[in-house]
Amino acid sequence: MKNLFVTGGAGFIGSNFIKYMLSNYNYKIINYDKLTYAGNLENLTDVEEHPNYVFVKGDICDDAMVRVTLEKYECDTIVNFAAESHVDRSILGAKDFVITNILGTQVLLDAAKDLKIEKYLQVSTDEVYGSLPEDRNDLKFTEENPIKTNSPYSASKASSDLLCNAYYQTHHLPVLITRCSNNYGPYQFPEKLIPLMIAKAMDGEKLPVYGDGMNVRDWLYVNDHCSGISAVLHRGKIGEIYNIGGNNEWHNIDIVKLILKYLNKGEDQIQYVKDRPGHDRRYAIDSTKIQKELGWKAFYKFEDGIKETIQWYIENEKWWRKVMSGEYMKYYEKNYAGKLL
Ligand code: NAD
Ligand code: TYD
Repeated sequence: MKNLFVTGGAGFIGSNFIKYMLSNYNYKIINYDKLTYAGNLENLTDVEEHPNYVFVKGDICDDAMVRVTLEKYECDTIVNFAAESHVDRSILGAKDFVITNILGTQVLLDAAKDLKIEKYLQVSTDEVYGSLPEDRNDLKFTEENPIKTNSPYSASKASSDLLCNAYYQTHHLPVLITRCSNNYGPYQFPEKLIPLMIAKAMDGEKLPVYGDGMNVRDWLYVNDHCSGISAVLHRGKIGEIYNIGGNNEWHNIDIVKLILKYLNKGEDQIQYVKDRPGHDRRYAIDSTKIQKELGWKAFYKFEDGIKETIQWYIENEKWWRKVMSGEYMKYYEKNYAGKLL
């Protein structure tokens, strides 16, 4: 592994991953990103002059551009983060999810096959497994769980996983898949639960909690996801799937209350709103396989990670205020207007 083609590297996890790899390894990183609303080069200002870092603006659906870039930089490895990633947006309209997440993956897989890429890693999600019952704490998602998607987002991610497996089986493409639980940390776009609630709390606005607030998510600090992907890239068995998760389940409402508490704000800012359609009740990851086979484990304690994250949003108000303008405001109105009870 020498030259890594990282797609979607200007987004939340991709930008954290690029910084993680540059500070731990000597690989050249080619960050290939379309810069949608979620892609932001300001996430990478501290590495933009790094001698091992190059940015190329491009769409993963653009077959010619993908191939030219892979050849120009003699890439031997692809790590695909590029995706439409927000469930609520996929409910408002699924087309971009199908185009980028499915068609884009097919374009990358074909290019990887034709150019004889040494490793292709697909960054997937635990959401492909569907929802777990809330009263069965003994049940968690393992890699053996069937795919059972409920949102257009998860359906598109599951479809790309299936394509990856098909290219492994049919063309012997050296594919790896990771499926991670919900991430939190610096540079997360404030449409997702944790950064949205921090921003709203800081502004003294209402915090919109879907349904009864009792849905459960299994939260992992973004750097732990990055170290998990790195472990799979370096030591994972080709053709295999690896779950990544922090064994850290929280009801949404408790996360919201925790954020309010850290910011010294009152719970009267909480506003219950109409539930998300098809809202998965509970996610929980069993990450025994990556721990036992690859020696990975989560490093960050949630209490530390969440404090650091809130502090980061306090210190980087300019960053989130900028991304929460323009197109974002239109989305916010469209998503939440119909939800007020
Ligand atoms: P994000 O929305 O913050 O970033 C996505 C990035 O992809 C952006 O930089 C965007 O510009 C880029 N992109 C979108 N369409 C593109 C295209 N057609 N061509 C090139 N670039 C394009 O997403 P994220 O939260 O960083 O998630 C990254 C990946 O990790 C996604 O594949 C997501 O499904 C997966 N994942 C996310 C989480 C989570 O909690 N956020 C958990 C598990 C898995
Ligand atoms: P989100 O961050 O969108 O991640 P995902 O849906 O992919 O798990 O949402 C996390 C949880 O928070 C999910 O159960 C939906 C809930 N939620 C709210 O209650 N209010 C909100 O405004 C948002 C964005 C999410």
